[in-house]
Order: sequence, then C-alpha cells, then structure tokens
Amino acid sequence: MKLIIATIKPFKLEEVREALTDAGVRGMMVTEIKGFGSQSGHTEIYRGAEYAVNFVPKIKLEIVVPATMADQIVETITTTAKTGKIGDGKIFVLDVEQALRVRTGETNEDAL
Ligand SMILES: Nc1ncnc2c1ncn2[C@@H]1O[C@H](COP(=O)(O)OP(=O)(O)OP(=O)(O)O)[C@@H](O)[C@H]1O
Ligand SMILES: [Mg+2]
Repeated sequence: MKLIIATIKPFKLEEVREALTDAGVRGMMVTEIKGFGSQSGHTEIYRGAEYAVNFVPKIKLEIVVPATMADQIVETITTTAKTGKIGDGKIFVLDVEQALRVRTGETNEDAL
C-alpha cells in the first residue's frame, strides 16, 4: 500500500474528490492547512532582507491505496488540481506498512 499526501488549492477540493471517487478511491483524510513552497508565501523586503509574511491556505489530502493504484491516483490528482499557475501544490508518495479496520479487524488492502 502507498500513502499519497497531496496539497491542493482549496477551491479544487470538490473536483479532486469527485475525480478520486470516480477513480476508485474509497476513503481519504482532508485537512485545512497553511504552508509555503518555493514562493515562501507572500514575501516582502525589509531592510534589504526578504521575509515570509504569511502562509498560504491549502487543503491536504491523505489517501492510502493499494500500491498498484498509486500511479493512477497521482495522475488523477495532478490533472484535476492543475491550473498551471503558481501554488498548484505538491504530491508525496510513501510506503505504508499496515492498515486495520477497527470495526471488523480486517487488515491491509481489505481495510481500505
Ligand atoms: N518541501 C516541502 N515539504 C512539505 N510540504 C511542502 C513542501 N513544499 C511545498 N509544500 C506544501 O505545498 C504547499 C505549497 O505548494 P506550492 O504549489 O506553492 O509549492 P511550490 O513548490 O511553491 O510550487 P509552485 O511553484 O507551483 O508554487 C505548501 O503549502 C505545503 O503544504
Ligand atoms: Mg508556491
């Protein structure tokens, strides 16, 4: 299994969620976050130095999928979340060792 962590622009959430369910994703975690990437949020110059003055709101998605689905899901997020303008987000893919559905005791892919 793989954990896909993706940050997206907040207004893209509904479109991405719909594309992901169409692609076979059955569950995900969604968190409102703030962060910065290569623009460091908005920056300003103060006495010759550049400071990050704020963080940009993003939505973070955490999705655990069977490893065989991971590339397709990353592709789905990429095409749906992309506007082509700065701040479209980042996607990270990690290995997952174990999953468990608390109600039934099912494990790993059966628990997804
Ligand atoms: N190295 C990183 N580690 C963890 N999260 C990151 C990292 N870089 C960016 N992020 C996340 O991505 C968001 C910034 O996304 P953003 O799309 O602006 O990245 P970027 O690298 O600046 O790309 P772009 O040039 O398109 O703006 C942050 O809010 C943060 O959630
Ligand atoms: Mg950026």
